[in-house]
Amino acid sequence: MSRAKPVTVEITDLNHAGDGVGRIGRTAVFVPQTVPGDTASVEIVGKRSNFWVGRLVEIKQASPDRIDPPCPHASSCGGCQLQHMRYQAQLRWKQGQVEQALRRIGSLHVEVAPVLGMERPAHYRSRAQLPLGGSPGHLVMGFFRRGTHEIVDMHECMVQHPLMVKLALAVREIIEQSGLPPYDEVLHRGVFRHAVIRASFSEKKLMLVLVTRTESIPLQDEIVDRLGEAVPELVSIAQNVNPKVTNVIFGDRTRIVWGDHYIYEQIGELRYAISPRSFFQVNPVQTKALYDRVRQLADLTGCETVLDLYCGTGTIGLYLAKGAERVIGVETVPDAVADARYNAEINGIVQAEFVQGSAEEVVPRLVRQLGRIDTAIVDPPRRGCEVVVLDSLVKANVPKIIYVSCNPATLARDLAYLAQHGYAAGQVQPVDMFPWTSHVECVTWIQKKK
Ligand SMILES: C[S@@+](CC[C@H](N)C(=O)[O-])C[C@H]1O[C@@H](n2cnc3c(N)ncnc32)[C@H](O)[C@@H]1O
Repeated sequence: MSRAKPVTVEITDLNHAGDGVGRIGRTAVFVPQTVPGDTASVEIVGKRSNFWVGRLVEIKQASPDRIDPPCPHASSCGGCQLQHMRYQAQLRWKQGQVEQALRRIGSLHVEVAPVLGMERPAHYRSRAQLPLGGSPGHLVMGFFRRGTHEIVDMHECMVQHPLMVKLALAVREIIEQSGLPPYDEVLHRGVFRHAVIRASFSEKKLMLVLVTRTESIPLQDEIVDRLGEAVPELVSIAQNVNPKVTNVIFGDRTRIVWGDHYIYEQIGELRYAISPRSFFQVNPVQTKALYDRVRQLADLTGCETVLDLYCGTGTIGLYLAKGAERVIGVETVPDAVADARYNAEINGIVQAEFVQGSAEEVVPRLVRQLGRIDTAIVDPPRRGCEVVVLDSLVKANVPKIIYVSCNPATLARDLAYLAQHGYAAGQVQPVDMFPWTSHVECVTWIQKKK
């Protein structure tokens, strides 16, 4: 196969990363920026053991699901993979992805409901992590070009809250005008590595975390003053120090440089504190839809003991707490546990408590101590639950487990494990937390078979 000569490919599917999939003979070819139904002229730019990587040269016949990308950075920015696809088609594809994962990985034939989409799928994100680069006086700041460390200079973004884009542009301009050097990852010198921006949608307030290589921020007072003047919605500026040669964004130490320790987000009737490093779902509108579904599935009567495993800042457990007798959250990150306790306090919730530690260590102990657990909610990171956690819930005969997942593959694996150990999986409800990207969140419940 000549790399130079484009070939015509019919795109029939998307892979898990959101790239179009076609075939040349019997070999699959993955082509970013194509959608099923496209006929495309494709140049082969890479070969792997069992597939080829193609570059879109031109669309010969457009799929009915193809649209012009709404964002001007779509072809260069690595943030959104499905910018060329109609929103309704994205939702259909995500439903199919979940069905496929459950069938292929879990051998499960479970009903998957249509994806709960957004009415207005734009400007939904409340957190951005923007790398800084370039040179003093000529800064670039935005997102990495897909698969590279080249920064695409961002001027607008259709998924971030507009106030966050306003702050991002101000940060770039003010640091650029200060003449201070951005971080140079090749030479490991310079000051500013990342600007992490968080927004409260309900209160229209912003938090900025400047991640620096250096212990202090040169010209700190001047930069803080100018940012405050340029963006009145900014209420908190923190510094995180990351002196290491690493791709990991955050270092170990964070301090508030100016303003408040928290911003607050309202989800339903609860108000949650968000600190510079704590986990919080990135789409507040869909978070309410997700948590409402968890509450509906939990169907609490006021007498239950509920575990909230991988609880972050306690958000789900607290959302349900008023309907339960007792809620116990488990989380590894000490700051998140402190935030969870603070969140219980500011919402006047007395029946929730939080244990710091890994679910693997804490759950077997809780099972021995508690005697009875009525419902367990699990919301693990992408790698899913460790077997010891699932095993403990099985041995404790927990009648109902509610599983919130951001990775259909590990959801399928864990549901299959529970199915082999006397549980029946209910309907899976995907929720679109991340429109225009290939990611999908799911919630489902699993009940002990009688
Ligand atoms: C997907 S987040 C869910 C947070 C929360 N349920 C929410 O809706 O905001 C997963 C959380 O699990 C925590 N975590 C990761 N590994 C863990 C483990 N082994 N045991 C307990 N918590 C863990 C992470 O720190 C993170 O806060």
